[in-house]
Amino acid sequence: MIDLNSINMDDTKLITKQENDKIISSLKYQKIPAVKHKITHTNKYIPLFNDVIYQKPIILESRRYIGNKAKISDWIMNLIEKETENVQIFTDIFAGTATISARALSKYKKVIINDFLYSNNIIYKAFFQKGQWNKDKLNNILTNYNLLNPKTIEENYFSENFGGKFYEKDVSKLIGYIRQNIEDIKYELTEKEYNILLATLIYNIDKIANTVGHFDAYIKKPIKYQSLQMRMIDVKDFDNVEIYKEDANILSRKINSDLVYIDPPYNSRQYCRFYHLYETLIKWDKPLLHGVALKPNPENMSAYCTVKARNRFEDLIRSLNARYLVVSYNNTYDSKSNSSKNKIKLEEIADILNRCGETKQFECSHSFFNTGKTEFNDHKELLFITKVDEKRKNKSFAPLLCWG
Ligand SMILES: C[S@@+](CC[C@H](N)C(=O)[O-])C[C@H]1O[C@@H](n2cnc3c(N)ncnc32)[C@H](O)[C@@H]1O
Repeated sequence: MIDLNSINMDDTKLITKQENDKIISSLKYQKIPAVKHKITHTNKYIPLFNDVIYQKPIILESRRYIGNKAKISDWIMNLIEKETENVQIFTDIFAGTATISARALSKYKKVIINDFLYSNNIIYKAFFQKGQWNKDKLNNILTNYNLLNPKTIEENYFSENFGGKFYEKDVSKLIGYIRQNIEDIKYELTEKEYNILLATLIYNIDKIANTVGHFDAYIKKPIKYQSLQMRMIDVKDFDNVEIYKEDANILSRKINSDLVYIDPPYNSRQYCRFYHLYETLIKWDKPLLHGVALKPNPENMSAYCTVKARNRFEDLIRSLNARYLVVSYNNTYDSKSNSSKNKIKLEEIADILNRCGETKQFECSHSFFNTGKTEFNDHKELLFITKVDEKRKNKSFAPLLCWG
């Protein structure tokens, strides 16, 4: 009797291995070259069966992203459900990982998703947008990537810049090679397939980055080799999604929505700088990179991370056409770091929202997100829900008249 605990494999891997062994031994006696080849490469095929074909696809929430609401999405969605009625169109205007959009997609008639980062936009299109794509074709491409031997791959833009820093040198060569190959075969791919491959690349390299979860810095220690196994993301096709890549304050003037969920950055840490490596990887215009963290020239810098934050927030609220405004706010303030200081005060948010209509404030109990480690000891998550009163809003935001 085999003691399962003594083998370092989970049930799925064991079953896959057993099935694979059966196939191979049943074919052993047929002397055809393909079978011989398969037997010779058994060790290669088992991980492929495991990782590409049999293992579950990578879910949207498995990405590391500062300020993502994955852990408290139940809390947010339950409050929205309880406090609002007759919502048909839901907008996630600072979508980030789109963890809230994903929940909304299975619930509301239409969901508008927006974020101004290139990499986030590709990810939304890959996971959600309706489009033609062929799973077997993509699995074949991924299988070929997984068979590559990084030692035989030449230096490239990605490895020259990021190798030995954000990724182990050989792995960085592989990443650069795969990214270039996706571009080279673009003409054979549909738009959806192209987006799926790019998002799949991001999700798989996210797990093995030599960072603490963002690319503002890398860990200055020798990097252990971890093989890059490309596993496809969990692709869905939704009819009810509309995806934008715009500045929130510009988009706010173009859309009508029953409810807008608002989760901007609140401190001076710019998302385009934290996730610059993914922006460079997705744009693939191979810019000159600067500084220790190898960042490109700034693009999509958010006014919400500057002294203009309060003003921008007020402008956003004033320009949105919605019946409900739902705002996430957190106090990830760390007294030791100026960059983590919030740019908009809690009272300022409350005041601006109160000018639009009846506003309720909810605080998330620590047990929701504090079970493991959080970056901050006194981490509080708040949610404001405002039922917009058009008259009150128009009156309080009317330009001040000057009487002579
Ligand atoms: C706090 S994160 C949102 C997190 C998200 N709710 C989640 O669960 O992953 C803020 C997002 O706003 C985006 N952003 C910042 N300023 C923006 C702007 N002016 N217009 C559009 N997106 C912006 C950033 O790229 C970032 O992804």
